[in-house]
Amino acid sequence: MVILSSNRLIVQALLKAVTVTMIDLHSHILPGIDDGARDADMSLAMAQQAVDVGISFMMCTPHMHWGTFDNDIEIIEPVFKQLRRDISAAGIPLTLGWAAEVRLNEMVPLWYKTQKIPFLGMLNGKKVLLLELPHSHIPAGADQLIKWLIANGVQPLIPHPERNRDVWERPEKIRWLRNLGCLFQVTAGALTGRFGEVVQDISLSMLDDDFIDLVASDTHDTKRRPNDMKDAFELVCRQAGERPAQRLFVETPGNIVGLSA
Ligand SMILES: [Fe+2]
Repeated sequence: MVILSSNRLIVQALLKAVTVTMIDLHSHILPGIDDGARDADMSLAMAQQAVDVGISFMMCTPHMHWGTFDNDIEIIEPVFKQLRRDISAAGIPLTLGWAAEVRLNEMVPLWYKTQKIPFLGMLNGKKVLLLELPHSHIPAGADQLIKWLIANGVQPLIPHPERNRDVWERPEKIRWLRNLGCLFQVTAGALTGRFGEVVQDISLSMLDDDFIDLVASDTHDTKRRPNDMKDAFELVCRQAGERPAQRLFVETPGNIVGLSA
């Protein structure tokens, strides 16, 4: 009991320390261009929720999913600029950046060569691409695309590999993707159980195996897919300790977007 309450005090102190520094690199806060925020009011509510859970910087990463959400730089940027103005006018202390969550498809090399792809930032001299796999499987040829991207100076960061059904059936696919050179973003709600036990177990195994490079919210709204970063931060503090939590929620995302922790 004493240990539990002592841990709780430590976690509360840590949360206080990172209240203004947690960095969320994956969100669907931009209104009306994917399956995230429906309108500007929802976006503002999501921004306030992000601040309330301790986030100071959030990347807007709408889907670029060929044939489903045909977003591109020309569509995303003005929506981002309008939301940034709205958040400033509302007095919400949240800094925004923008990129996209790009669904893996055969157009990616062409999009890259014609500068159609926005990147999260830089890491170790490579441009960081949030490269989403289908939830159902890992497509044939994914390894070739990943190798091509890396050879062309792009660092693939795979969001929520823990929700991929091929990974559920063959968890060794995580190591396979890692050996190809991918980094991994696990979703906060996956760690806390929002997506069920299978997804949570894989996420916690990845934490144990040090296969998580960063945690992000992937928030889509304030209720069904809210921002779980605070709860996930607490969980990682309990499961792995303070240093890993700082690395996954503050330092690595901060390095990518050029913010010092
Ligand atoms: Fe997403």
